[in-house]
Amino acid sequence: MLVTPITPIIGAEINDICLANLSNDEVAHIKELFIQHMVLVFRDQELTREQHKAFSRNFGELHIHPSKRSAKGGGMQTKLNKSEVSDDPELFIIDTKPDSKQSNGEAWHSDVSCEEIPPLASLLYVTKTPENDGGDTMFANMYEAYDALSDDLKNLLMRKYAFHDGEIDLRNYGIKLKPGQLYPKASHPVIPAHPETNRPYLFVNGSFTSHIEGIAKWESDMLLQGLYRFVAASPKLQCRVKWHKNTLTMWDNRCVQHHAIRDYVGYSRYGERVSVLAEQGPQAFFQDQ
Ligand code: SIN
Repeated sequence: MLVTPITPIIGAEINDICLANLSNDEVAHIKELFIQHMVLVFRDQELTREQHKAFSRNFGELHIHPSKRSAKGGGMQTKLNKSEVSDDPELFIIDTKPDSKQSNGEAWHSDVSCEEIPPLASLLYVTKTPENDGGDTMFANMYEAYDALSDDLKNLLMRKYAFHDGEIDLRNYGIKLKPGQLYPKASHPVIPAHPETNRPYLFVNGSFTSHIEGIAKWESDMLLQGLYRFVAASPKLQCRVKWHKNTLTMWDNRCVQHHAIRDYVGYSRYGERVSVLAEQGPQAFFQDQ
């Protein structure tokens, strides 16, 4: 396979590989590249839904989005995307119509960080791109975001937990929970250690994080808004992926945030996303002895 880094900090394009037909050695190599580059972009893939899911299962069991789980399973069974055609609970459909009021993920976030155990990876397979060539996705490296902080701020944040509330994200889509409906909420360390690299990374995002726990709301707002501004205003942390028809991009949902760009009003874009369950929730980098 041909590996071309997108930037020295994040992302690689992988060509000359067929995800529907991988040897064990190729899977092992892709796992190494995933940890190294965090965002892998595979071009020219002809995949059925089953092949997309089978490739994703190389990384773990598949996640079921809370919008597809019953209340008992910590979800609410409401279509986030009104035009959704698939009933497969393991597929999250991203179907933006020419006149859709919004598309999925139009802000910096990691997918469903409100889950007790957020997915370790997401794999989005885009089969229809807008005719105006828009619809790119940005990705940002949260290891580097942490590394760039001052020692004083690192020391403060690594002892803190933040609350992630799925209702914040639902409100962004104009959805209000009905009485009796549940949606995930969870407390996670602001600075977890990546389970495979043991590196610390920043884990708060504007789509799900409501507050940093144990400090006044105004202090939490000040810190979170500052961190979000820093991530958004730091091109050095970021790469931008241009989708072509039949591109599959996978990202490490722990140490990477992403942001879909809706610069294609009047055109349509279609993709199907599969996410992979982690074995455990984020663990704090700082362990008090
Ligand atoms: C998302 O996973 O948040 C959407 C990404 C995209 O549509 O590019």
